[in-house]
Amino acid sequence: MGFLWSQLFVTLPYPTGSYTGQTIIITGGNAGLGKEAARHYARLGAAKIILAVRSIGKGLSAKEDIETTTKCASGTIDVWQLDMASYASVKAFAARVTSDLDRVDIFHANAGVARMHYHRAEQDEESITVNVVSTFLLLSLVLPKLKATAAEFQTRPTFAITSSGAHLHTQFPQQHAAEGEIFNTVSSPENFKTNLRDQYPISKLFEIYAVRAISERAPADQFPVTINCFTPGLCYSELDRDGPTLTFKIMKFFLARSTEAGSRTLLDAGAKGVESHGTYIADCQIAEPSTVVTSEAGKTAQERVWGELVRKLERIEAGCTRNFS
Ligand SMILES: NC(=O)c1ccc[n+]([C@@H]2O[C@H](COP(=O)([O-])OP(=O)(O)OC[C@H]3O[C@@H](n4cnc5c(N)ncnc54)[C@H](OP(=O)(O)O)[C@@H]3O)[C@@H](O)[C@H]2O)c1
Repeated sequence: MGFLWSQLFVTLPYPTGSYTGQTIIITGGNAGLGKEAARHYARLGAAKIILAVRSIGKGLSAKEDIETTTKCASGTIDVWQLDMASYASVKAFAARVTSDLDRVDIFHANAGVARMHYHRAEQDEESITVNVVSTFLLLSLVLPKLKATAAEFQTRPTFAITSSGAHLHTQFPQQHAAEGEIFNTVSSPENFKTNLRDQYPISKLFEIYAVRAISERAPADQFPVTINCFTPGLCYSELDRDGPTLTFKIMKFFLARSTEAGSRTLLDAGAKGVESHGTYIADCQIAEPSTVVTSEAGKTAQERVWGELVRKLERIEAGCTRNFS
């Protein structure tokens, strides 16, 4: 009922305010929610918007479209290469953020995939690599820049992750996997085949686990950056490009928000501030995630997933998880 109410009756606040002087990065900024969020930021006067995209061609088309519709100053929007399916690309992107930008005020980790076909990227199934491992690798590697922005400009930057209410639709059956085997189990082709409908929800559940795990170790009053995650609700976008099921097509037809309406949730999370550190946001309000997160079993599962994720990140870039404190 909550989902139906939200999709049919909630009107999300239209973004207002000024982003003058601010630098905003949006991964997956060439399409869907990321592109519409970039359009709002351009309209609201952001000084610099980086569209972090895997296809420079698609990024340049999005930039041209946003420039034409908003008439933002030329030079506001830059297009940078980032492939979240490649750790090397994530590292190169983070290095560029560190070296080329004076400040980062809002970082939208928005790129995501919902796969209907099995692909492996790096060590995991692609949606786990893109939505989870690379998202937190990126966070760990750009945190020094966000912390430096906080210190230099006396601000509190935000790293906002586009998660999903889809996390409510899994009981996370793999939480009982053998010690240290949760990612391997979730990423196996056999699991993908058997639990296909769980895969995308689990990737979004892991995002919520990790955001909470970080904030439990680094609470808002001891950490200069706000890290939050949120659901945009069900929205029109290209996320189902792998081929939606008939049920999903029908649901989308009757219930989906426009891409623009969904993109408002990105700006809300980006502006939410210190009280949203470690939280999950729905309909632009801080909300309770699923009991698969909040129950005692959920807390145990969170610690197991977080432990495995930290070990994975340390293997990719030794020392990077120290930035979470
Ligand atoms: N739409 C919804 O109903 C909904 C609901 C809840 C949450 N979300 C979340 O919202 C976020 C944005 O999705 P969307 O709905 O706007 O879908 P979308 O239109 O498919 O946009 C996804 C974006 O992510 C990019 N991306 C995918 N894989 C990437 C990779 N390996 N490296 C870099 N970028 C990559 C895509 O780039 P390409 O164009 O090059 O593929 C695209 O720009 C996702 O995290 C999704 O899980 C969406």
